Formats: sequence, C-alpha cells, structure tokens
Amino acid sequence: MSLPNKILSSTIRCQSWWSHIEMGPPDAILGVTEAYRADKNPKKINLGVGAYRDDQGKPFVLPSVREAEKRIMAENLDKEYAGITGLPEFTKLAATLAFGENSEVIKSQRVFTTQSISGTGALRIGSEFLAKYAKSKTIYQPTPTWGNHVPIFKCTGMEVKNYRYYDKSTCGFDENGALEDISNIPEGSTILFHACAHNPTGVDPSQEQWKKISEIVKSRNLFVFFDMAYQGFASGNVENDAFAVRYFVEQGHNIVVSQSFAKNMGLYGERVGAFSVVTSDPEEAARVASQIKIIIRPIYSNPPVHGARIASRILSDSQLYNQWLSDVKLMADRIIAMRSELKNLLIKEGSVKNWEHITNQIGMFCYTGITPQQVDKLINEHSIYLTKDGRISVAGINLSNVGYLAHALHQVTK
Ligand SMILES: Cc1ncc(COP(=O)(O)O)c(C=O)c1O
Repeated sequence: MSLPNKILSSTIRCQSWWSHIEMGPPDAILGVTEAYRADKNPKKINLGVGAYRDDQGKPFVLPSVREAEKRIMAENLDKEYAGITGLPEFTKLAATLAFGENSEVIKSQRVFTTQSISGTGALRIGSEFLAKYAKSKTIYQPTPTWGNHVPIFKCTGMEVKNYRYYDKSTCGFDENGALEDISNIPEGSTILFHACAHNPTGVDPSQEQWKKISEIVKSRNLFVFFDMAYQGFASGNVENDAFAVRYFVEQGHNIVVSQSFAKNMGLYGERVGAFSVVTSDPEEAARVASQIKIIIRPIYSNPPVHGARIASRILSDSQLYNQWLSDVKLMADRIIAMRSELKNLLIKEGSVKNWEHITNQIGMFCYTGITPQQVDKLINEHSIYLTKDGRISVAGINLSNVGYLAHALHQVTK
C-alpha cells in the first residue's frame, strides 16, 4: 500500500532539514586516535592523545584519587545540584592551589573562583567574560598554541592574534621574538600564556624570562589570561609549576586563570576545573561573580559534583594531599625518564641529528621538530600515530615501545 501524498511530502521535507550542512573536518587530535584504533599492526603506538599512560601503556587512576573516591562512596552522599559556581569548598581549595597558601589576593578576598567543566570549560567562561566585558576584544596567543585555544576565543566573537613563542631553529623559546612582539601589542589587549608545560611545544620560559615578560606586559598595560592545565606535570612539583601565575600576581597584575584537574589528578572524564578572576577589591569581586553566574546559567546551569568532591578531598586532607603530590611526581618523573631514554636510544641508533630538545622540553608533550612528510612516514610505514605538527605525547611512550619508536624516528629522519 502506498503512503498518502501528504505523508510522503512531509517525510521528504523532514529529511531535508540539514541538507545544506557540509561535512566538517575531523578533530586534529581525536582523528589520530581513530586511525590508531583501526590499525591492525601489533606494534602500533598512539602518541596523539594527551593522557597519561602507565608503563604498560594503560590509563592510570591515581592512588590518591582511588582512596578519595572510596571515602566519598562510603559516605553515601546525595546527588543534589551544586550551585551555579560549583562546590564552595572546591573553589576555595583550587584557588589556594593556584595562588599559594599565603596568597595576599586570597586573604584580601580579591579573587573570585568558579568551578568549571574542566580546563576547556574554564577557558570558555573566560572567553565569554572577555567578549562581554573586556575593553579590547583582541586576545594574543603564542605561536603555536593548543589547537582549541583559537576556536574557544573566536566562538565568542573575540579576535585572535599571535605573538612569536617557539623558535624552530633551536626547538626552544624564542625570547627575542616573543619580547619584541609583546612590546608591540596594543595597550588594553589580552595576552594568553600557558602557565607551565606549554602545549604543544613543551617549551616554557625560564623564571628570569617570565620576569622580563611581566615587565613588558605591565609597561604595555596588557590584561593577562593564564591557562594552567598542567600544574605539577612540568616539574613534578605543583608549587614550582605555579611560579609564573604567582609571580605575575605578586607584581600586581590582576589576572584571570583557568585550571584543569584532568592531567594532574588524572580526572580527565570527570571534567573538574576552575576559573579565577583576580580583582581590585572584594566589592569588584562580587560584581564580577554576579556576572559570571549570569554567563554560566544558560550554558550548563551548574557543574557536576563527583569529580570536584574527589579533588576537594585530596586538597583538604593532608595524608591524601601528600599521596597526591607523590602521584604527580611519579607521573612527571616517568615522563622525564622516557624523554632521556628516547634521546639515548636515538643516539644508539646512530642518529646524528641534535635531539637535545627532547630532554630540554618539559611536560606531557615533545615537539620533535620533524616535518609533516616524516610524520606521514611514521604513521604509514611504522604505525606510530601523532599529530601533523610533529608533536608526540611522551606519556604514550614506555619501556616496551621506546626502542621501536627510536628506531622508526631514526629511519624517517636519517
Ligand atoms: C593547554 C591546554 N589547556 C587546556 C586544556 C583543557 O583540557 P581539559 O578540558 O581536558 O581540562 C588542555 C588539554 O589538552 C590543554 O592542553
């Protein structure tokens, strides 16, 4: 029996609602994982994804997180909504972790902190806030930067511009280029810094370089946005890794900071983060808080509680906190050890290229300096998956695959 014309035409019309939509490109990083999964080579390695793996290549749940979770489960807590800005205990502890135990700006109640949907959510709240209230709608980002920084700021209408950061010839920090570009940024603009463990390059300014940057930023009257997604991951010490954020605050910069607990607590899928604004006084902080609540409410209403409870437990209990510090150090140390191993094995393979940057760079990522053609060869001939820019996640290297990786890297670069 054929369908009546009326039904047929409405069916056809329904099918054509989205006919004008073009296929979008796959995500540069998640696309790498998809290709890796489809590869049948038993020696394949995924160096694309920025998530820590243990020495067996398996996802790692921190012992401090397991213990905190056990305690929370034993308490049979309810599942009520958090407030718009999340769990007050969590936001207080997150701010203390970022700004320090004896932070003047916390003591004088000049910091407003809201919980966020991990680091990405914190950046997005910041982006919405700047687009609505910043005097200048331009943000300057390092070249290169994390791939998501550009769309996070563009999607709220901010204009994204760049400053030099990475020197290809040294695979290190381009101090002269960065300082020159920053000193030419128009007054009142926002400048984005990675607080530590710069992604994708693994190259951070030294403390002396941060001091020079702070001075120029102050003289240009720039507004500073710190993205701190890897506190503890760079050096293995959460205090050292907060140097830049704390130094800028001490120097009188009223900054904003996005924090992620995805990497340093391994809480990737729990989406735990925070966004803080350092203001001039408590009254300004209250006004900022009121407007940030208005920004958050129509986006996701309020954040999830479970991960924030875990982070709060760890940050508030001295035994769990000390356990966590050693968990962070263990992860950072394994990454540092894999960097050395990779460099040594490349030399043993007979490579005459300079690989010093592998151990000079820090954090989860290493910018290898190899060309897109060499990346293609690693993928197609050796089943080693990484992003087109030559970035590898050192967390994906372990004692079982580092030899294979060094061999392949030498083959494609000799
Ligand atoms: C520089 C940087 N910022 C922010 C994030 C945000 O991560 P998440 O949203 O998982 O916390 C990442 C994650 O890779 C990152 O590398």
